[in-house]
Amino acid sequence: MGDPRLLRVAQPVTTFATPHLAALLQDMRDTMAQLDGAGLAAPQIGVDLRVVIFGGFSNPRYPDAPAVPDTVLINPELEPLSDEEEEAWEGCLSVPGLRGWVPRRRHLRYAGFDETGQRFERTVEGFHARVVQHECDHLDGVLYPMRIRDLTRFGFVQELFGDQAPPQPD
Ligand code: NI
Repeated sequence: MGDPRLLRVAQPVTTFATPHLAALLQDMRDTMAQLDGAGLAAPQIGVDLRVVIFGGFSNPRYPDAPAVPDTVLINPELEPLSDEEEEAWEGCLSVPGLRGWVPRRRHLRYAGFDETGQRFERTVEGFHARVVQHECDHLDGVLYPMRIRDLTRFGFVQELFGDQAPPQPD
């Protein structure tokens, strides 16, 4: 947080199934795995492209997190399906050591492309919808602290949760 590359509106991907895209995705997967993340967006490793990855959780630290499929989502489009919001704790690999209480849309349809250029669409809710909104915000230069309405619910993991595992992964 504070790096200007996190504040850009990222560029769409125009060619798929390239070595360049494969290398980017490998870098992103390695970064997410190394840091125990729930997801990662290309701008978080300094790459100005509309690419996010998320899901595929196998992290024993977060056994209660609902299953989200291991996903590559490129040039995403998000469509809220209702006005209903829900609030929950979020963290971010670009905002290490902190958690904030963030409102998100509860019901969502999203569409985009996988790394081969195949278009897909999903209708999701709850935690899955939250993860998608968090990651896609990175493509528009938005970090979760910008979404917090009550800044008394933004703080260091140790202060908020003590020695308990925090309720959401980064
Ligand atoms: Ni993030």
